[in-house]
Amino acid sequence: MKFVFQRNPPILSVRHQFHSQCSSISPQVICKSNLSKEEFVLKILDRRWTLRNPDTKVHQIKVSTLQTQQHCGLLGNVSFSNNSHPSLGENVREWHDDQPSFYIVRDDLLHPLVNGNKARKLDALLPLVEDHLGTDVVTCGGCQSAHAAAVAVSCAERGLKAHLLLRGEQPQVLTGYNLISMLYGTVTYVPRSIYAKREEMLSAHADSLAGSVVCLDDLLEASFIDHNSVKPNFPNLEDGLPSNSKKVVVINEGAGNAVALPGLIRLVQYLSQDHILGKDQPLKIVVDAGTGTTAVGLGIGALCLGLPWEVTAVMLADTIEGYRKQEEHLISELCRCYDVPTTLVESYTGWNIWNVVKGEVEACQQIAQETGVLVDPIYTLAAWELATQLSQEEPKGGAKVVMVHTGGTLGMFGLAQRYKSYFYITFLTIKLIISNRIS
Ligand SMILES: Cc1ncc(COP(=O)(O)O)c(C=O)c1O
Repeated sequence: MKFVFQRNPPILSVRHQFHSQCSSISPQVICKSNLSKEEFVLKILDRRWTLRNPDTKVHQIKVSTLQTQQHCGLLGNVSFSNNSHPSLGENVREWHDDQPSFYIVRDDLLHPLVNGNKARKLDALLPLVEDHLGTDVVTCGGCQSAHAAAVAVSCAERGLKAHLLLRGEQPQVLTGYNLISMLYGTVTYVPRSIYAKREEMLSAHADSLAGSVVCLDDLLEASFIDHNSVKPNFPNLEDGLPSNSKKVVVINEGAGNAVALPGLIRLVQYLSQDHILGKDQPLKIVVDAGTGTTAVGLGIGALCLGLPWEVTAVMLADTIEGYRKQEEHLISELCRCYDVPTTLVESYTGWNIWNVVKGEVEACQQIAQETGVLVDPIYTLAAWELATQLSQEEPKGGAKVVMVHTGGTLGMFGLAQRYKSYFYITFLTIKLIISNRIS
């Protein structure tokens, strides 16, 4: 798996430089097992899911290089068009075209509020909470956390209570995911100094709900040991506490738990079917990374299914060391629970450093207008840019590129509120164009 490093998350600056550097560090996580990879995948996917099926749409984005800069955003010298019904299956292998393009997995279309990687992470997670008779869920995130909102909506759909710890102060006007979190869950705003110690904060809040508390990864392990029986695993049932008391499950920030991985492996299995992307075609899978859980899940899926796919993650929120730690943690949790086979993470072959500067809002606007796909300046624009860049190599013999859209559609509302001037610039440009036309 490859991580691409993006320094300074994107909103306030223009990306004008691109450096790359290679790392020779190749950490390997090796788990010994008697299971074959196929058996492992079968075992991990044999469970109850939130999504009725793993299906998703795949579109194809064609990239044209322009002679002159025609847009004011970061992607001003390229234009895009969207083929929303590309021929897949055999055609992915056979299709040769001089025009660069990339596929995009439209997971952003899965649900109006719970989409992208949020839907995939909760796919295995929520049935597990239900199977263990959980009543309440505690999780945390930034004020505009798509994860927190997704947990709140999904819990409400199942009759569970979501308690959301959001970083910082309550904004004067609620919008985007912040508004959704408030509508569907119980929100507590937490000072940044307390939020900095997330794990302590989550467990203190879970304890304050006066029920029995269980950690998600323990449920995962229990579900695996006694796979087919519904076995409540809360301490109070053994300790003689009333059985109608709350049973609280703690979900890490961004659902950065091992139990988020099966949903992503399920997505990889779906995509690798012969009539979608197939199993033989070398592919570069591009995804944006916050905690890195999505990228790790996709990587594990590809590895265990023996696919010639390379997962490249754009690192947006942590250092390479932080991502390595998270990757090792997730894999060791999986090993503990699932007896994972052989080497899961082969190596980090390199990463790039992007100095990010301004122009993202205009780039998102261009992409929306030319393709109908909404990306946000924080996460999905970064993956789009990398997919665009890698797609240029494909006609020269490079692997085909597939971007996984991680959703986060409503993030734009929060950003518009927070970074008014950037959205104002767009508005001002439109006003100037109009007044020039009038005069
Ligand atoms: C739109 C979007 N993309 C990507 C991510 C990061 O995903 P991960 O934490 O699995 O790396 C997030 C965070 O939840 C997100 O909201």
